[in-house]
Amino acid sequence: MNDEKLDLPPDRLWQPTTVKWFTVVFGACLFYAVVRYHLAGDVAWRHLPLFILNKATSMAAVVFVGCSYLIGKVIHWHDDNKILRLVVIKFCGLIGFFLAGIHALFSFCILAPAYFAKYFDAGGRLNLQGELAMCVGVVALFCLMSPAITTLPMMPKALGGWRWKRSQRMGYLALILVVVHLVFLGLKGWLTPKGWPAGLPPISLISLLAALVPLVVKSNRIYAKRQRKKQLQ
Ligand code: HEM
Repeated sequence: MNDEKLDLPPDRLWQPTTVKWFTVVFGACLFYAVVRYHLAGDVAWRHLPLFILNKATSMAAVVFVGCSYLIGKVIHWHDDNKILRLVVIKFCGLIGFFLAGIHALFSFCILAPAYFAKYFDAGGRLNLQGELAMCVGVVALFCLMSPAITTLPMMPKALGGWRWKRSQRMGYLALILVVVHLVFLGLKGWLTPKGWPAGLPPISLISLLAALVPLVVKSNRIYAKRQRKKQLQ
């Protein structure tokens, strides 16, 4: 049933189309995490509620934030309905931020050598790799706050067009920091594909690609714009 039939405002965030987006993206991330770590790997099922759910949540966060910058540019599914397209862009950005926040809280709950021995030294403190990864993660989460807060309806008017756009673009900076977060956490594992359960790549590597796509698309668009400007001069 769609929102017109239910007589609900067309710009509400939680509506059949966005529910489908959430189900597909989060469902796919959770499915992949369960297959890779429980079925193909040797992680015990008792770690599903936090350790594995955290992996699915973090990957879904990156995918949603990435999609919020790709809809209308690379993903053209909602081009025929401008209002719906804006709703889906806003939904992806906000749910990405929300899931990133949940991922941070989940991570704080299990941030211990027993779960992540490689990020700790022998004395039980974070090693340099762990400290750098956490530092960049915290700043990335902070950067995501800016585009999330400025989606509030009064914000475009309050900030003015240019400053509002600049705050929305902070998401790109967040994605760059997420790339750095992932490199610190996952690089070693990416270079040893023989150790991947059933040959399935780590979630950190898939998330890296998901973060890189919008960044590459954005750089291509900036490059093309500059070329056009040069030709006009
Ligand atoms: C307070 C901020 C953050 C903290 C404390 C944090 C902590 C962590 C930790 C401990 C891991 C390792 C998890 C594992 O291997 O199971 C991790 C991985 C990851 N983080 Fe973060 N993070 C933060 C922010 C972010 C943000 C903002 C994003 C993206 C929007 C993000 C995306 C990821 C992804 C995709 C992984 C890879 C998960 C995996 O390999 O299984 N993190 N983070």
